[in-house]
Amino acid sequence: MSISWNVFRSVNYITMCLVRTSNRNILNVRFCPILRLISYSQPHFKEQYEMTFLRTHGEPIKAKFKEGDTILDVVVNNSVDLDGYGACEGTLTCSTCHVIFKKEDYDRLPEKPSDEELDMLDLAYELSDTSRLGCQITLSKDHDGLEVRVPSTINDARES
Ligand code: FES
Repeated sequence: MSISWNVFRSVNYITMCLVRTSNRNILNVRFCPILRLISYSQPHFKEQYEMTFLRTHGEPIKAKFKEGDTILDVVVNNSVDLDGYGACEGTLTCSTCHVIFKKEDYDRLPEKPSDEELDMLDLAYELSDTSRLGCQITLSKDHDGLEVRVPSTINDARES
């Protein structure tokens, strides 16, 4: 098999992975092993920022993020110990990624929640006016220092 054929197959595979993850509305290397391998084998030049998860019980948890990460990515990439968080992996079917923003941070979020997110939020415990689903929040450098509160209990809507 020629080298160019192998290159073609690799590019084709990566493209398929990108399409697959885009269709799931989740541009994330977690869902594609080859993208993950490429990502982790490259030097990480992107600047890192920090956010904090405030828990009802337990110490606050600080975690690093890069621009373009969702809050769900932050939990996964930092192995943040939030039991059951992000159970549906960002497919908007569980509401376990519920977080509560401070009012001023909530008002600065670039996008309003979609109808699908609002439907799922209705099933979350401890819902507030500043609640969002972490899998739907994409972070930028403007979120450096962000603090979000994590409810004391989660509801996996798939089990209702
Ligand atoms: S991770 Fe399931 S709705 Fe966000």
